[in-house]
Amino acid sequence: MDVNKEEKVLIIGAGGQIGVELLEELNKLYGSSNVVAADVKQSPAFANNAFEVLDVLNKERLLEKVKKHQIKQVYLLAALLSATAEKNPLYAWQLNMQGLFNVLELAKEGHIQKVYWPSSIAVFGPTTPKQNTPQYTVMEPTTVYGISKLAGERWCEYYFLKHGIDVRSIRYPGLISYKSAPGGGTTDYAVHIFHEALKTKSYECFLSEDTALPMMYMPDAIRATIEIMHAPAEKIKIRGSYNLGGISFNPKQIANEIRKHIPDFKIAYKPDFRQQIADSWPQSIDDRETQTDWGWKNTYQLPQMVSSMLDNLK
Ligand SMILES: NC(=O)c1ccc[n+]([C@@H]2O[C@H](COP(=O)([O-])OP(=O)(O)OC[C@H]3O[C@@H](n4cnc5c(N)ncnc54)[C@H](O)[C@@H]3O)[C@@H](O)[C@H]2O)c1
Repeated sequence: MDVNKEEKVLIIGAGGQIGVELLEELNKLYGSSNVVAADVKQSPAFANNAFEVLDVLNKERLLEKVKKHQIKQVYLLAALLSATAEKNPLYAWQLNMQGLFNVLELAKEGHIQKVYWPSSIAVFGPTTPKQNTPQYTVMEPTTVYGISKLAGERWCEYYFLKHGIDVRSIRYPGLISYKSAPGGGTTDYAVHIFHEALKTKSYECFLSEDTALPMMYMPDAIRATIEIMHAPAEKIKIRGSYNLGGISFNPKQIANEIRKHIPDFKIAYKPDFRQQIADSWPQSIDDRETQTDWGWKNTYQLPQMVSSMLDNLK
């Protein structure tokens, strides 16, 4: 892996579900003095790093911080996620799009050399084939989150083609982690279920039992993020965003797997507005381009992930 320790890194939205774990891994790779955390609020996770209070919508302040720390790489994680975005669509559009423009424009102006910006399986919609959804297919998202991610993908490719910006992106599936709480997505149930299983041995799920969705354990997602950002530029052939395949399961399947560890665990189903979002998304992902172009391989399957989550949360 090609790691240039001279390049200082900024994570925007570093206190979120992904940011906290990405920060830890980037600290190992670059040294904590070369990684700067930015967010609208402080977090104990920033104990070893320089921290800047930053609203990504404030481009002047962003530039000031990029210059102050001589930042070369930006990981832009600040966004409103699927369920939260539906409650505040216009702000979600503003944050998810203008935040991206602010970073891409600074790259265009020569202040930043490399950008990571995550997309999501939410770019797909009800007219997309649901099983083994391919990289190139019908994309008609019906959520404000999905619309913003699809537009973001197109803008990333545009800045690459028109301005040569080295921007890299992955369409994350639902991410499952124990180090930090999820931030308001439709797949959050697959994290909450572990906390409740250990605390009360029961869980009320906001999706129906047979709602299968593409998911991934956080260590795999962080590894994918680091691998795409450190692959040689010529290997990154897709500058919109790459499909990333992990595991696919429904609430009933994860509950059954949890029962192998906690036999009297009970689950009830009470679908809410998130059911409609989940119904519009793929159930599993075909990521052959990702495997071919930069050698991606998922490692955690459902049983290993469930064991690891329960062990770590205990
Ligand atoms: N977690 C998932 O399952 C998942 C799946 C697909 C895609 N993604 C994408 O990955 C990225 C990170 O997701 P996450 O789960 O860590 O989200 P999160 O909600 O947990 O974290 C987002 C962080 O951004 C910060 N933030 C919010 N507004 C900000 C602003 N204006 N300026 C600076 N910081 C701000 C928040 O305080 C929070 O710490 C997002 O782009 C999200 O769409 C996440």
